Amino acid sequence: MDLQYALRTNGTVRSFKNDPVGLDTVAAILDDARFAPSGGNGQPWRVAVVEDRPLRRGLAELMQPVWDEYLEIRMAGGQPYTVVGYETPDRITPDKPNELLDNIDSVPVVLAIAADLSKIAMMDADLDRPPMTGGGSIYPFCWNLMLSARHHGLGGVMTTFLSRCEPEAAGLLGLPKDHALVATIFLGHPVRQPTRLNREPVESFATINRFDGVPLQSPTK
Ligand SMILES: Cc1cc2nc3c(=O)[nH]c(=O)nc-3n(C[C@H](O)[C@H](O)[C@H](O)COP(=O)(O)O)c2cc1C
Repeated sequence: MDLQYALRTNGTVRSFKNDPVGLDTVAAILDDARFAPSGGNGQPWRVAVVEDRPLRRGLAELMQPVWDEYLEIRMAGGQPYTVVGYETPDRITPDKPNELLDNIDSVPVVLAIAADLSKIAMMDADLDRPPMTGGGSIYPFCWNLMLSARHHGLGGVMTTFLSRCEPEAAGLLGLPKDHALVATIFLGHPVRQPTRLNREPVESFATINRFDGVPLQSPTK
């Protein structure tokens, strides 16, 4: 697949056909993903391929309340879980439907992705806000994985709702000490691969010289 086409069309897939995906394919995808960059080439990624059904259901039980709260805020027009002015809603309706969690038994591939914090230089750890730069050493790996999955005819979604309950999930997954649970990735053969993605144009987020500078215009076609 043409690289630019792949970059522009790798939409989220949450419904999968029943066709199984073998461990060999998963290994081939991870074999591509490992070429991701990371700070100091620390390669902090660890991957658990979660096959055990009761374990999957245990993870889904942890994710469900996170999804319930997320959707409650979204339905009220808010931005869930932002660190800037987020307030927990007064009432949260439980057990809202979620295609991934409701069908976690039959999702062809469930991957828990962790990052070894001892291998990450967290350049902004001492600032007066939550650190961000460490994610740059693990999320390129996750996105390489998603692009490689597409190359292998698969689709899926990278999620972070399990990270909200990392302490509980750590016990279930045997997360090593000083590791962060950064993503749960669901993959399979897409029922439908979305390719028309809704994204803001260049001039809405890029400016010249300073962030308050003149907008950089979208390329002329
Ligand atoms: C860092 C990150 C966290 C995400 N977390 C979740 C999640 O917890 N649950 C979920 O269903 N989707 C999650 N997503 C998927 C986003 O909702 C999706 O990428 C976004 O809506 C754009 O969808 P599209 O590519 O189909 O247009 C996450 C995506 C990213 C990059």
